[in-house]
Amino acid sequence: MIRFENLSVKFSHTDAEYTAVDRVNLTINKGEFFGIVGASGAGKSTLVRTVNLLQKPTSGNVYINGENIVNYSGQKLRNLRLNIGMIFQHFNLISNATVYDNIAFALKASSTPVKEIQKRVPELLELVGLADKAELFPPSLSGGQKQRVAIARALANNPQILLCDEATSALDPDNTKEVIQTLRNIKNHYPITILFITHQMEVAKSLFDRIAVMEKGRLVEVAPSYTLFATPQSEAAKALISSDYKKAVPKKVLEQEKDLYMITYKEEGAFDPVISDVSRKFLNTDLSIIEGNIEYVQDKPIGRLLISLRTRDEKEKESVISYLHRKTFISRLDAE
Ligand SMILES: Nc1ncnc2c1ncn2[C@@H]1O[C@H](COP(=O)(O)OP(=O)(O)OP(=O)(O)O)[C@@H](O)[C@H]1O
Ligand SMILES: [Mg+2]
Repeated sequence: MIRFENLSVKFSHTDAEYTAVDRVNLTINKGEFFGIVGASGAGKSTLVRTVNLLQKPTSGNVYINGENIVNYSGQKLRNLRLNIGMIFQHFNLISNATVYDNIAFALKASSTPVKEIQKRVPELLELVGLADKAELFPPSLSGGQKQRVAIARALANNPQILLCDEATSALDPDNTKEVIQTLRNIKNHYPITILFITHQMEVAKSLFDRIAVMEKGRLVEVAPSYTLFATPQSEAAKALISSDYKKAVPKKVLEQEKDLYMITYKEEGAFDPVISDVSRKFLNTDLSIIEGNIEYVQDKPIGRLLISLRTRDEKEKESVISYLHRKTFISRLDAE
């Protein structure tokens, strides 16, 4: 559905050149819910904005349905943009127009006949669960409801692609859940490909089929969500996941412990034998559990334990770690 081929975007300042997107190759399949994560400034928005040419690439190609779009202009570009909806962190609704009119505007802009608009707007409101809010004005809606209006507007012209740039980042957890639920519901009823940028790992876990991790303009890892969360390979992915995980533990506790490790297991309850094995086999090392949970990604469990190792025998500690390496997925966790 979307294919980036050796795509780069460079910005030139007075004398220096800055590479915001660096030779990205990526294929997003039709109907996929695809996530892009990465630290601030990694190039996520710049990459996604090339899909509807809000950002022109410096080199490389973007194929939509097999057609290279990078040189589109005029009517071709307008048609392309009708086929691609977009939502943002800030909802960009017109505050002195009703919910109904906010959505109707998108249809008027594409010269939809009035009769068709009158039929389509209620359908869209139904789709995002706001059938009873048509006559309200945006300031009287919650954040989640505003974003749902923005989603309805973005879908007004039946696009094949929906781009979402931090669409839930300005929302509290309840409103975030509400928007996620709406997007899931849409995916179940409507054949659409969604490309979603977020820095919220909670959102990534519950929404995406596959995830790409960006760092300094480059794609450093692309994997199904479950694989990425259970066994991240790149430093950038490990950092994102562990920083999210560390939020569950008070900073003071993290700082007190010197040798912290996060161990991850792909099956529920599978920790027990590993932990008791360690205490039986390695008599000079104490393993304490600081935090633990089981989370579900794509409906499959990932167990995590935050452990600290205290040893009276450094050599033995190495054996403990290599033992854990064989049995689980283990990574060191720094307090910062
Ligand atoms: N129009 C522009 N002119 C100059 N530099 C730009 C422009 N747009 C983006 N950049 C730079 O390109 C880099 C990538 O920016 P981008 O907005 O794509 O990052 P991001 O991953 O979306 O970050 P965030 O998570 O903060 O939104 C940043 O260093 C940014 O300052
Ligand atoms: Mg951005």
